[in-house]
Amino acid sequence: MQGQFLGYHSEWNLGSPGGWVYQKMAQEIGSLAWKKIKKASGVDLTLDFDHTLLNPLPLFAKLLFRAHKAKFGSEKPFIALVAEEETLENVGENIKCVQYLNSLEGVKACLIDPTKLEVKDNSLYVGKDRVTCVFVDFNNNVILKLKKKHNMSALLFAIQNGFVTNPRGMEPIGAKSVFEAITSDCKHQMSESTIKRTPWTRQFYPRQTTCPNGKKIPDLIKWTKDNWPNTILKPVHGYSGKGIIIGHKEPNIEKSIKHALRIGDYIVQEFIPIDIWAEEFPWLDRESKKLFIKKWQTDFRCFVTDVGMIGFVTRFGGIPTNVGSGGGVQSTAVLRSKMPVSEAVKRLNDAIIKLGFNFVSEIQDEMDKKSVKIGNVYLLGPIMNTLRPRIITESHIEQLRTYSHNLWKDALTLEGMWIDGKLAKYVRISEEEEEIARLAPWRGKPALIAADGLFGFR
Ligand SMILES: Nc1ncnc2c1ncn2[C@@H]1O[C@H](COP(=O)(O)OP(=O)(O)OP(=O)(O)O)[C@@H](O)[C@H]1O
Ligand SMILES: [Mg+2]
Repeated sequence: MQGQFLGYHSEWNLGSPGGWVYQKMAQEIGSLAWKKIKKASGVDLTLDFDHTLLNPLPLFAKLLFRAHKAKFGSEKPFIALVAEEETLENVGENIKCVQYLNSLEGVKACLIDPTKLEVKDNSLYVGKDRVTCVFVDFNNNVILKLKKKHNMSALLFAIQNGFVTNPRGMEPIGAKSVFEAITSDCKHQMSESTIKRTPWTRQFYPRQTTCPNGKKIPDLIKWTKDNWPNTILKPVHGYSGKGIIIGHKEPNIEKSIKHALRIGDYIVQEFIPIDIWAEEFPWLDRESKKLFIKKWQTDFRCFVTDVGMIGFVTRFGGIPTNVGSGGGVQSTAVLRSKMPVSEAVKRLNDAIIKLGFNFVSEIQDEMDKKSVKIGNVYLLGPIMNTLRPRIITESHIEQLRTYSHNLWKDALTLEGMWIDGKLAKYVRISEEEEEIARLAPWRGKPALIAADGLFGFR
């Protein structure tokens, strides 16, 4: 009998979550390696790389179609993916998404910067075509930045008139400081699984509060210094791991704390015990010609929608575990053999190590070649993958479905509270950003939430 998966989520993204194309590419590369490893080693394991949850893009597209349908019924969808102009030619994810949408019968899509949207006769257009659904690749603060230079009235029209998925009113709930509400005042309105998976979090400024075990903290700054190795400081509206200060990796406590207080808008969060979300993978060092076991940290993004969980992106790297911070996207497989995950991992790691440096090196070359061929690249090189997949079971998937279902419901409860002004002390945004958010309340309409899990599957 398998137990519950371990760990906590590090954040929820509700503004404009991405990552829906990378997993499929990691799967192609990972299954290529697996076939060769299985054949050469004969390891007694059955792994499934083709679960629908490991290819989120088609289900993300379906989400856009649900949003389209709610407004336009059976009309032909014309979907505009709106991104900042300088990203149009180099963010592969958006390019691939639009290519995929255009490959579907009866669907049209375009990738544009927001100035290409136009309003005519109370409808939204790109050129001669009437747009039926818009996905915006940036957050509300970027709209304000662009507004200083360009006319954003068509985008704001699209937001206010319900063309934009996600509704922009969701973004405030994605502030990392909302986890303070979940781990204090709003606890009683949240599901058990949400409470269990949310790490203790407090907005970081000189104040009194309560600590993870409920005891009084007279001075949060002093408490943070005293508990430094077990804490992490993160910008409330951070992304890609930027600005994160990891207690146990940062020896200069005073300087770090001063920095966070000076920049402002930081949270302090309990550091999630590293062993929960670490995994061992066979790894190659080309220079020393060694094949060995290396411990990596992992990050398990769950995509949650109005119809439940639609997929994952599984990342690995150091801390922070972001591709932008030197990490990679790894393949994941569902274990079809009857044994615990830990046993499958052991068998697979042993089998790969036994194949030896030269053989595994050839597999790695083929993986890298495939990466470049299918566009699984970041900046100058192939995005890293691991020689074996992350392994989960159907039982874990069932648990994640319940977790995701509750997360959606609880985020909706929090949005209701924010609309009523009851979350103001946890969501500090500018008046202009609030204005944009209030143009388009979410209220449970089709949308995408990405919850980043520092999870352990055993
Ligand atoms: N409470 C925590 N305990 C331990 N590590 C953490 C914690 N929170 C974040 N991290 C580390 O920092 C990484 C990024 O965290 P988080 O998702 O909160 O920030 P982010 O900058 O919004 O990232 P992204 O936008 O890439 O998802 C995690 O993958 C993990 O490596
Ligand atoms: Mg994250």
